[in-house]
Amino acid sequence: MQTGAATRPARTRAGPKVGQDPLPGLCCPSGLVPHRQTTNVKESMTDRTERSWVPDGLLMDKPHPARMYDYLVGGFHNFAADRQLADAVGEVYPHMRSGTVAQRAFLRRAVRFLVDQGIDQFLDMGSGLPTAGNVHEAAQAANPEARVVYVDNDRVVLAHSELMLSADPRATLICEDLVNTDAIFNHEEVVALLDLSRPLGVLLNAALHYVLDDEEAQDAVDRFKHRLVPGSYLVLSHPCLDETSKEILDRVLPLYQSTSDTKVRSLDQIRQYFDGLELVDPGLVRAPLWRPEAPDDVLLDQPEQYLGFVGVGRKP
Ligand SMILES: C[S@@+](CC[C@H](N)C(=O)[O-])C[C@H]1O[C@@H](n2cnc3c(N)ncnc32)[C@H](O)[C@@H]1O
Repeated sequence: MQTGAATRPARTRAGPKVGQDPLPGLCCPSGLVPHRQTTNVKESMTDRTERSWVPDGLLMDKPHPARMYDYLVGGFHNFAADRQLADAVGEVYPHMRSGTVAQRAFLRRAVRFLVDQGIDQFLDMGSGLPTAGNVHEAAQAANPEARVVYVDNDRVVLAHSELMLSADPRATLICEDLVNTDAIFNHEEVVALLDLSRPLGVLLNAALHYVLDDEEAQDAVDRFKHRLVPGSYLVLSHPCLDETSKEILDRVLPLYQSTSDTKVRSLDQIRQYFDGLELVDPGLVRAPLWRPEAPDDVLLDQPEQYLGFVGVGRKP
């Protein structure tokens, strides 16, 4: 059953608690001021006054998961509060940054793999900020004609994204909840940019764990698979609760509670998302082990420090 954002039951509400939609009449950023990975939290006033890219009404003194993620992968759309919490997580889990970088690197490898298979259009669900190493850049480097629709339910992400994507007619972002399959597939920008009668790459990288209800998450994935034409692909990564990760997650997740609720799932649950698809080699693995390209890929020497599993499935 399709469930709209407004009608979703409270227990399944996921994603950012802070700044989720504080921005009626949001304006788009007017410029970009690079500001990379500075950890000095006293700089927050500088953040406030110097950044012309900051949308009006943004809550800059509260950490936001998408900006924390941006900070961890080396982007510059983040504020002191985001860096402070990300660094606090890093103190209890020293591989937080490398795990996030490994996850983002998997996404780029998977996108390039899909382009090699002839995929030239992508729906990136729960895309986050268009941060270091964007999907459309990875795809268009391999095929300049590749088109990407980013989907995120967070208006903060939308605000940060508009300027970055405005110069590229083949990439856009829509503000929608990933469980709203019909709204996404019928969205005018999706219909305008993508040809849904042709194979598509659906990316669910580090996003589904924000849908807290297991059945709702499974239903959303099943609806995507149903809508895809044969030859389409699903790319998915998801944090996993197993013997290796439990001890670390027990310490990390409480820190995230101030910014977002997430649901860590079992390997069996993650495997079920690929039911009905042909799992591409090497199957469901930790991110650094999915078709690594260089011997010095991050965490390749200790993949168990990546706290989830990733996979790519093809619809037969
Ligand atoms: C950790 S970021 C992942 C970024 C990106 N997919 C990547 O792999 O680098 C998760 C993103 O999912 C978004 N998100 C969370 N729940 C969502 C939902 N129900 N629908 C759409 N986006 C959602 C958040 O706003 C956030 O930007």
